[in-house]
Amino acid sequence: MKKKLTTLIMLSIALVGFSQTSEVMTTNGGVPVGDNQNSKTVGEYGPVLLEDIHLIEKLAAFDRERIPERVVHARGAGAFGVFEASADMSQFTMAAPFQQVGKTTEIAIRFSTVVHGKGSPETARDPRGFAVKFYTDQGNYDIVGNNFPTFFIRDAIKFPDMVHAFKPSPVTNKQDPNRVFDFFSHLPEATHTLTLLYSDYGTPAGYQFMNGSSVHAFKWINNKGEMTYVMYHWESKQGQKNLTATEAEIQQGKDWQHATVSLRNAIDSKNYPQWDLYVQMIKPEDIHSFDFWPLDATKDWPADKIERIKIGTMTLNRNPINFFQEVESVAFAPGSLIPGVQASEDKLLQGRLFSYFDTQRHRLGPNFQQIEVNKPKQKVVNYNSDSYSSSRNDEFDNPDVNYQPSSRTGVSDTEQYKYVQETLKNVTITQQKITKTNDFGQAGDFYRSLTKKEQENLISNLAGDLAKVKDKNTQKTMITYFYKADRNYGMSLAKALGFSMKDFMN
Ligand code: HEM
Repeated sequence: MKKKLTTLIMLSIALVGFSQTSEVMTTNGGVPVGDNQNSKTVGEYGPVLLEDIHLIEKLAAFDRERIPERVVHARGAGAFGVFEASADMSQFTMAAPFQQVGKTTEIAIRFSTVVHGKGSPETARDPRGFAVKFYTDQGNYDIVGNNFPTFFIRDAIKFPDMVHAFKPSPVTNKQDPNRVFDFFSHLPEATHTLTLLYSDYGTPAGYQFMNGSSVHAFKWINNKGEMTYVMYHWESKQGQKNLTATEAEIQQGKDWQHATVSLRNAIDSKNYPQWDLYVQMIKPEDIHSFDFWPLDATKDWPADKIERIKIGTMTLNRNPINFFQEVESVAFAPGSLIPGVQASEDKLLQGRLFSYFDTQRHRLGPNFQQIEVNKPKQKVVNYNSDSYSSSRNDEFDNPDVNYQPSSRTGVSDTEQYKYVQETLKNVTITQQKITKTNDFGQAGDFYRSLTKKEQENLISNLAGDLAKVKDKNTQKTMITYFYKADRNYGMSLAKALGFSMKDFMN
């Protein structure tokens, strides 16, 4: 009996051993490797030989493991899942995912912090990125949004300066409130988003506990060529949960990668995170009828004035298998649009339409759309060719004809998806600020919507950073902005920073 058991154990060890050794290690060229543990040397104690090709290849691959991290939003976590439409929006848009109730579309998502590098803590006070890629029947469609419904600035020309001010100093390599508020004291338009940032919404408890927003309006186009302005909102079915500054500090001491871990764990344990997708719509003839400019990214579209209509639900049900290939290499862009969606005139969005594709050509290479995670489900048919890592243009029936027009038939444009024409009358090309700035109204509304405790946390978080600012005039200007948003807000902040009314008299 004992002998039989020993034979069985030996047999299973042999079987395990067999399955483990069934894969032969190879070089990148597919050649079997003789020894992956010992370099080729001149005798047992001699120097290493340059002719050890496997060693050289292994070191060279390691030396090139890193690619440039994203210039912003470098730290992030990704997942995959599905969007299921709960409404038929075909009367407003041709966009494939929103055509019929029950229609499902595969999606990829990446959540992120903004300012700091790839290995930075997820406890940082920061907006959070909320980028969704729909792999639709008509190509890839990205909604590259944030957790806040507004942004700090309204014109792309200010973005690089804003990011410089937020990022660590070029001298000390440390983020510095002096630099941040030096910049923002010149930008009253940031009052609303700064208020969101310094509230506990600036430190979400985890990625699945935050809402998302497209921030910008887009244009939906139906099959008659009619246009409606839309804004998207993702509402977390897990509920919104934030950390107070003290909780964030404790979390940072315990595990500052908590957001990545908690998202992964939720999906691994089949506790699949879900968000409902809502749209708000404005008819083009009504776009000028508000006390703010709806295509100004510093503004939210108030839910009590513009109804939010639920159009579907997103479920995240798969974790990435390889972080580099599926998350670091994923490329989202506000310009990844499909028939039925066009960019609005929003000045911030217009700059983004250029910036993402441009940075991705730099970060991932000119053929970044050929990386597996970025590939559309459809066959790509055009004559863009070659450059690094190109793997296309070899599948045409007549690959010799890589130009158009030509005698080759079978590749055609689709008239229906041509840009919807707009007539512009009496237009002057200009460089000017919008007139309807309304920089403080929504900041005040948001402040008053907070509970007393949340207001106290906001004041304490803001005062904490503003107290580090050496220039009293910068501090006073910032207080003035918050005062204009809400008298109590400004007064509480002034008090927390040790100012009296007298200080603001002259
Ligand atoms: C003119 C303004 C802006 C510019 C020039 C800009 C530029 C960039 C750039 C260059 C990246 C890196 C992309 C990559 O390497 O793949 C990025 C990432 C990102 N941006 Fe912006 N951005 C702007 C405003 C915004 C706004 C308003 C939002 C939110 C509505 C936003 C959300 C994001 C998100 C979510 C990511 C990360 C995407 C990912 O997970 O890969 N950005 N941005």
